[in-house]
Amino acid sequence: MDKGLIKASDNRTLPIDQIIHGNCLTVMPTFPDASIDTVFVDPPYNLRLSRDLWRPNRTRVEAVTDEWDQFNDYSDYDVFTRQWVAECRRVLKPGGTLWAIGTYHNIHRIGTILQDMDFWILNDIVWIKTNPMPNFHGVRFTNAHEILIWAQKQRNSKTPFNYLTAKSLNDGLQMRSDWLMPTCVGKERIKKSGKRAHPTQKPVGLLYRILISSTRPGDIVLDPFFGTGTTGLVADQLKRHWIGIEKDIAYVELAQERIRAGSHPDANPALYSLAEKRQQQRIPFGTLLENGLLHPGQELFFDNKDGPVATVHSDGSLLCGSLRGTIHTLGRQLLQAPCNGWVHWLYMDTKSGQLQSIDELRQSLLSNSLNPRAISIDD
Ligand SMILES: C[S@@+](CC[C@H](N)C(=O)[O-])C[C@H]1O[C@@H](n2cnc3c(N)ncnc32)[C@H](O)[C@@H]1O
Repeated sequence: MDKGLIKASDNRTLPIDQIIHGNCLTVMPTFPDASIDTVFVDPPYNLRLSRDLWRPNRTRVEAVTDEWDQFNDYSDYDVFTRQWVAECRRVLKPGGTLWAIGTYHNIHRIGTILQDMDFWILNDIVWIKTNPMPNFHGVRFTNAHEILIWAQKQRNSKTPFNYLTAKSLNDGLQMRSDWLMPTCVGKERIKKSGKRAHPTQKPVGLLYRILISSTRPGDIVLDPFFGTGTTGLVADQLKRHWIGIEKDIAYVELAQERIRAGSHPDANPALYSLAEKRQQQRIPFGTLLENGLLHPGQELFFDNKDGPVATVHSDGSLLCGSLRGTIHTLGRQLLQAPCNGWVHWLYMDTKSGQLQSIDELRQSLLSNSLNPRAISIDD
């Protein structure tokens, strides 16, 4: 993607596909209002570690003791949090969303502040770490998860959620709010002189799932606490625009190099289209009659050959005994439950002598683009 500047009517500019070195509290105010689609924040945790942590074998745990994680107290942390939340809110588009990740040290404070500042929480996601660090002293439960909050700037606004894409990523099953993933280890972990280069580098897989399910290609994703640039790397690979802000120059340089090395510039844009987009051309059942794929009087079977049988009417409705309805409403009456008729009704394929799903006929129409009409699949 080309680096660039988007200029707003108030002359404020948006530096896309770039890392800005600086404090996000002073950098974000230079961005235009309502210009960002999604913000991902992985802010300081405020761990307040008062002493070194040691393993039983007397090796020191590389904990987060950096200057950027130091706050005087909770109220100091809350003031800081309110400042960045306010700026994120201002720069987000009306339908924009914010993702925040944290641990028990900070995420509940962030959640409260988000709600107090009129964000509407859509989900909280539990990232369950498959390889958590043990509680070496055995005095507490192993801390094996982090929490992500996904919130929209305005309640009931039209925010993207790529439901089918997320489902497809999950082998056809609806994506749930408990995500099992390892922490960033092995080759993925960036090292300098044998030591990890950043204490809280997030896994690429986590950002992949977030961005593919809640943003669209071409969207602008802002990460004001950029660290090693995981958000920018994944956004770039998924053909989203990104902006990173990071106050430590060493991390800025690290992230720049990482994104440059990880970019896939020649990828075919069609590979990044959303499953939702592919489904946008919608086919009413009657189109199967109009195109001669089914005919009036033909029998349809509900789920299997021993299930209820319905006759296709010339107007696209189905008749079954004294019942009459669409493939969906009749199915609902038969099931006594919500029903997507495309999933349940079968027809006898005369060539193969087998029952086939009517959905296959619809898919053949979709792929041949025979149907110019656009109405909901579930109508
Ligand atoms: C929790 S880490 C983010 C790690 C990142 N998600 C990754 O995958 O590498 C927080 C980062 O925010 C940076 N930071 C802290 N306060 C900041 C501020 N006010 N403005 C910009 N960056 C800040 C820190 O230097 C640190 O790199």
